[in-house]
Amino acid sequence: YESLSVAELAKKLHREPSEIIKKLFMLGVMATINQELDKDAIELICADYGVEVEEEVRVDITDLDAYFEQNEENEQSMEERPPVVTIMGHVDHGKTTLLDSIRHTKVTAGEAGGITQHIGAYQVDINGKKITFLDTPGHAAFTTMRARGASITDLAIIVVAADDGVMPQTVEAINHAKAAEVPIIVAVNKMDKPSANPDRVMQELTEHGLVPEDWGGDTIFVPISALKGEGIDTLLEMILLVSEVAELKANPNRSAIGTVIEAQLDKGRGSVATLLVQDGTLRVGDPIVVGHAYGRVRAMVNDIGRRVKEAGPATPVEITGINEVPQAGDRFVVFEDEKTARQVGESRAMTAIQASRSEKQRVTLDNLFEQM
Ligand code: GTP
Ligand code: MG
Repeated sequence: YESLSVAELAKKLHREPSEIIKKLFMLGVMATINQELDKDAIELICADYGVEVEEEVRVDITDLDAYFEQNEENEQSMEERPPVVTIMGHVDHGKTTLLDSIRHTKVTAGEAGGITQHIGAYQVDINGKKITFLDTPGHAAFTTMRARGASITDLAIIVVAADDGVMPQTVEAINHAKAAEVPIIVAVNKMDKPSANPDRVMQELTEHGLVPEDWGGDTIFVPISALKGEGIDTLLEMILLVSEVAELKANPNRSAIGTVIEAQLDKGRGSVATLLVQDGTLRVGDPIVVGHAYGRVRAMVNDIGRRVKEAGPATPVEITGINEVPQAGDRFVVFEDEKTARQVGESRAMTAIQASRSEKQRVTLDNLFEQM
């Protein structure tokens, strides 16, 4: 304890305050009942009673990032988990078409009624192996997540149109992926176009450090046509190959932690958040803190709009039951009980309000200077 009052110390030692005051007096310290005692004085008194002072370990329970760092697992409880893949690339190079193509060949085919709901992330199943795709605009996801020190992607697909070549946002995407230290697979798209020039794409990417395997490098290039659905199976195979090498693991038996992919306010359902479970298993009824919001998971819907009771590692899921709308990139943590979740949530909300207040004050000052 850094400091305690005489009364508090007396209570902890199960003694009368007057007795403590007397002891202090004997030690040459004049004290009143409400007097704050420093560490040395506390230790002195405790030593006199033969009580050892335990160093209090202060863990900031409101620090969700700390939960991630504490997340050291023993190897035995770890199981293989699906890779989380982000698709990035220059405007109009075919990211959305590629995502649609993957989803339609792999998801809609087996689903009567098709995709009933779009939740910003989805999972495909390739011969029993799953891949999770983040369907957020690649750059936005990477930028906001990285700014918060959160990493959610295991692998980046860089889409380059074979008729257009490397463009500014292609380079930006490469830099994002490199900074996040995730493996990169290049999808050379629009191969169906007569003007497609894949050699040029390879040449240009080599200049940015992405050397094709055929040229002695270690970057996988897959020629595709997102529009015609060609090369998609090979691309998916390569994704699985690269993720196998990475040996991605998680512990499905712990309480869930993860990150917000997107969130909004729904008229009927209240705050709705799409979460990526990164470790553990999230269940309906779990007390949860999501960014500054908290609550209990009321309902969960998976990427094809089905209600589910639980979601394991690398699974995207939409939840309701939290009191506020969190932000993309916010962490979520499941707690043992609702009381703790509420405490942590409220305390985090309070801190956020204070931070935004001082932010506002600063802005006002800035404005003042601008006006001068
Ligand atoms: P932004 O989201 O605006 O950055 O674009 P995007 O990268 O998502 O590109 P999108 O998938 O919207 O495709 C842009 C245009 O390229 C559309 O008209 C697509 O039909 C077309 N396109 C995408 N893939 C292919 C392809 O493989 N071949 C051909 N010929 N056209 C394609
Ligand atoms: Mg798009």
